[in-house]
Amino acid sequence: MSDTIGTVMITQQQINERAAEIGKQIKEDLNGEPVVLVGILRGAVLWMADIMKNTDLEMTIDFMAVSSYGSAKKTSGVVKINKDLDTDIEGKNVIIVEDIVDSGYTLNYLKGYFESRAAKTVKICTLLDKPEGRKVDIDVDYIGFTVDDRFIIGYGLDYDQKYRNLPYISFLED
Ligand code: IMP
Ligand code: MG
Repeated sequence: MSDTIGTVMITQQQINERAAEIGKQIKEDLNGEPVVLVGILRGAVLWMADIMKNTDLEMTIDFMAVSSYGSAKKTSGVVKINKDLDTDIEGKNVIIVEDIVDSGYTLNYLKGYFESRAAKTVKICTLLDKPEGRKVDIDVDYIGFTVDDRFIIGYGLDYDQKYRNLPYISFLED
């Protein structure tokens, strides 16, 4: 994979519009109840801010950092928690905010983890979905955009920790 940035796939304006739609949907689905948004570091930070601003509910936020064991190219499905929640989520409505669902291992693990901590409801809100990468079946409640099986960068997503600050979504040329 080269370090050449591809064309713009999804613009800031498209993301803003989608976040507004999803925020409205979340409010409706939770019937006005309070919510805890849990952002998964570091890729979700920009999308997390968009969802926060567009969701008109009583809200608290928290963050987790996770990594999966195994080589960078091949995820093993075993997820390690590098930063745990600071919030007690028992009895709360939780929405996990992620940058991208690829194999599904990370979110599958996190959903089970939150359910084991007795959250009232656990939903998933991802900026991007890459269905061709899926290894484990998982229900994703809110999807910003569906993308092809390419290496995506920008708007929080990195390659070797770079490009997270691009204000749009692009990909790396093969
Ligand atoms: P999953 O467990 O395979 O679903 O992996 C999800 C994580 O892998 C995401 O949170 C990203 O950090 C990373 N990831 C997967 N696909 C891409 C990509 O195309 N670009 C950048 N990061 C990716
Ligand atoms: Mg991530």
